[in-house]
Amino acid sequence: MLQVSGLSQAYGGSQILRGVDFEAHAGQVTVLLGRNGVGKSTLLRTLMGIHAARAGTVTLDGRVLGGLPPNRRAEAGIGYVPQGREIFPRLTVEENLRIGFATGRMHMVPDQVYEMFPVLLEMRHRRGGDLSGGQQQQLAIGRALCTRPKILLLDEPTEGIQPSVIKDIGRVIRRLADEGLAVLLVEQYYDFARDLADAYLVMDRGEVVARGDGRRMDADGVRAMVSV
Ligand SMILES: Nc1ncnc2c1ncn2[C@@H]1O[C@H](COP(=O)(O)OP(=O)(O)OP(=O)(O)O)[C@@H](O)[C@H]1O
Ligand SMILES: [Mg+2]
Repeated sequence: MLQVSGLSQAYGGSQILRGVDFEAHAGQVTVLLGRNGVGKSTLLRTLMGIHAARAGTVTLDGRVLGGLPPNRRAEAGIGYVPQGREIFPRLTVEENLRIGFATGRMHMVPDQVYEMFPVLLEMRHRRGGDLSGGQQQQLAIGRALCTRPKILLLDEPTEGIQPSVIKDIGRVIRRLADEGLAVLLVEQYYDFARDLADAYLVMDRGEVVARGDGRRMDADGVRAMVSV
C-alpha cells in the first residue's frame, strides 16, 4: 500500500529525516510515536509533498509519487489532517468540506462524513472558526475524507481535545480502518495510540528506532521510549 524507503529531509543544513523506511497497509492503523521535535510532522508533510524529499522513495499502491506536488498526491489517494487542524475559519463548515472535492472524486459531502460526525451536519452553515477545537478536528478529518483517500495521515488529532471527543475520533479511526482505509496516525497520547494500533513505529531524531505489532506495544516497552 504505502511504501516509504530511505526518505531523507533537511531544513537548510539541519538533517531532520534520516533514511526513514516503513510500510502502512490497507485496513490497518499504523501509529507513529515519538517525542517532541523528532520529525513526525516533517515526515507527514514530506509524504504529502509539502516539502520535497532530499532522498528516498514513496510509493502508493505501486505508483511512485516522486516529485509530485500536494494536489497531485491528494489525487493519488493521500488524505492529510495537519497538526493544528488548519481549517478555514471564515468559510462555513460545508465550504470547508467542499475543499476536499478538489481531487474530483466527490461532488457531494458523503453521507458517511455527516453520519460519523453528526455535529458537522448540525453546524454545516456555521463558520469554521466558530467551532470548538474538537469540532474543528472533526471537520479537518471530514474534509480529508471528502478527497476519498486510500490512506489517511493524521497528525496528533487528540492534541488539545476533550476526552469525549477523543473517544468519538478513536471510534471513527477504527471504523475507517475496518472499512479498508490505511491510517497513519501520529500521536503523543500513548493510551489512545495503543488502543488503536495494528502496527507501531517509534521515531527518534529522524529515524525509525523501533517497530512492531500494535498488540505488543506495552510488552515492547514503547511507553518508556516516548515518555518525557
Ligand atoms: N519549517 C522549518 N524550518 C526549519 N526547521 C523546522 C521547520 N519545521 C520544523 N523544523 C524543525 O524540525 C524538527 C522536527 O520538527 P517536527 O515538527 O517534524 O517535529 P514533531 O516530531 O512533529 O514534533 P511535535 O511532537 O512537537 O509536533 C524540529 O527540530 C523543528 O524545530
Ligand atoms: Mg508535530
